[in-house]
Amino acid sequence: MHNIVLFGPPGAGKGTQSQKLIAKYHLVHLSTGDLLRAQIVEGTPLGLTAKKLMDEGLLVPDEVVIGMIGSALHNNRQAAGFIFDGFPRTTTQAESLDRLLAEHGTSVACMIALEVGEEELVTRLLGRGKTSGRPDDQDEIRIRRRVTVYNTETAQVAGYYAAQHKFHALNGIGEVDAIFQHISSIIDQHQAAGSEAPAAATREVKA
Ligand code: AP5
Ligand code: MG
Repeated sequence: MHNIVLFGPPGAGKGTQSQKLIAKYHLVHLSTGDLLRAQIVEGTPLGLTAKKLMDEGLLVPDEVVIGMIGSALHNNRQAAGFIFDGFPRTTTQAESLDRLLAEHGTSVACMIALEVGEEELVTRLLGRGKTSGRPDDQDEIRIRRRVTVYNTETAQVAGYYAAQHKFHALNGIGEVDAIFQHISSIIDQHQAAGSEAPAAATREVKA
């Protein structure tokens, strides 16, 4: 299995790049945001609880998303690998992902982080909000809160993977296809080297 964590703040392009990556590498896309929105559409108790937090740009409790990922891994045991999009968002989630993947005899190959500044994120998400129907895209206050939550609760997860020499950061501003080529080159180096990290592509995590 080849498992990739696609990382970055809200609006960085994780979903956009995931769509291209699953087509190229035949991986299963696991987006906790998409899984939660599906629960909201179904009107499940989990969805109702999650909706209040998501609409305000706050994180859903760890045990909820860890449980969803555990089920998804179990239901996709034959997959060639996974792209994790929007998960893990806390160190607790990262530790749980390692444990869950180990139970399936596999591990995270690498984390690839898309770096995009806050003003560009706000511009992108306000633009998407005109058509997405996502309540958390509708106003600047909620979008900036999502960015703040990312900076205070999620950004530190990069350090978890850097400590395992699995962290790669790249510029998430520019043409979608050019960013995709950059991501692909990192994945290709990983696949060629087995689980070894390609040293040339690795950068230190910013504090
Ligand atoms: P989630 O659904 O994961 O949303 P997010 O991380 O806030 O980010 P987005 O999905 O909005 O952005 P993206 O990076 O996928 O960018 P996209 O490709 O869409 O999470 C939503 C909520 O669910 C959270 O706030 C939380 O409440 C909850 N949640 C989810 N996971 C959780 C977890 N693990 N733990 C706890 N709670 C969790 O692109 C954005 C826009 O930019 C699009 O319009 C796109 O067309 C455009 N764009 C993309 N690339 C480019 C480019 N290169 N140039 C210009 N525009 C671009
Ligand atoms: Mg997304």
